[in-house]
Amino acid sequence: MVIFDFGGQVSMVTGAASGIGAQVARSLLRAGSSVLALDLDQAALEERSASWPRADGASCLCVGADVTDAAAVGAAVAQALSAFGRLDNLVHSAGVIDIETVDRTAPTDWEHQVRVNLLGTYLACREASGPMVRAGRGSIVTVSSMLARSGRPGYSAYSASKGAIESFARVLAAEVAPADVRVNTIAPGNITGTALRDHADAISRERGFSVATERVHDIPLGRQGTVQEVADVALFLCSDAASFITGETVNVSGGQVTW
Ligand SMILES: NC(=O)c1ccc[n+]([C@@H]2O[C@H](COP(=O)([O-])OP(=O)(O)OC[C@H]3O[C@@H](n4cnc5c(N)ncnc54)[C@H](O)[C@@H]3O)[C@@H](O)[C@H]2O)c1
Repeated sequence: MVIFDFGGQVSMVTGAASGIGAQVARSLLRAGSSVLALDLDQAALEERSASWPRADGASCLCVGADVTDAAAVGAAVAQALSAFGRLDNLVHSAGVIDIETVDRTAPTDWEHQVRVNLLGTYLACREASGPMVRAGRGSIVTVSSMLARSGRPGYSAYSASKGAIESFARVLAAEVAPADVRVNTIAPGNITGTALRDHADAISRERGFSVATERVHDIPLGRQGTVQEVADVALFLCSDAASFITGETVNVSGGQVTW
């Protein structure tokens, strides 16, 4: 179902080869936006995006890049501008997870999660916000997690990186608001059907933590969420229907986190 009309717009979506990012890219293309889809895994991105339906006039450009590489992220934004002439939206979904208690987490593993999740968010937002500020319009959506606010054993690096994303997004929102650029964050809960979820479950099993389906009883709506339900909120936040919303974090957790 197409809820919003993004005809003539251009969006950049990171982490677009899989899960939430893939669904956001697909939904934006269907809603009329051209998309610069970025992912570390370019082969998977190209394979996946080949089947995405596109509204008339909407095209998809696939870029293989690491969100922690400032030059590569800057070049991707430049590619979007040269291919499509403008940049209206950024949905930054690229992220990684590992699960281990603090005492057993190697500093390099801790740093990797913070680097991809937090530095990656900063770089994508920094590069994409420049042209938006110059154009005097735009919308940025970052992706944190309900684990930014709920402490669960094993998630120290992940939770810390996600909490910092929310703090960062609030500051950027204040800085770019005078140019009518909005910055909001989605905090997904227990979302099924993504590579990150499968990976988290596999290492949880291995290391003695609970897996996602065992925690469904913690969710008031009584089920896991879908990538479509997260993508719909991302499109809402990018759309003019959210024109007076900025600096906000929206929980998409079936009621599990409400603060
Ligand atoms: N699935 C969930 O339940 C859930 C819950 C809360 C938050 N999130 C967040 O949602 C976002 C998307 O997660 P998902 O579940 O769709 O995961 P996913 O693993 O399915 O997709 C993440 C994508 O990011 C890409 N990526 C990873 N590192 C990258 C890098 N350095 N540069 C560029 N691309 C990179 C991966 O290749 C992958 O395609 C993440 O930020 C994740 O933390 C997911």
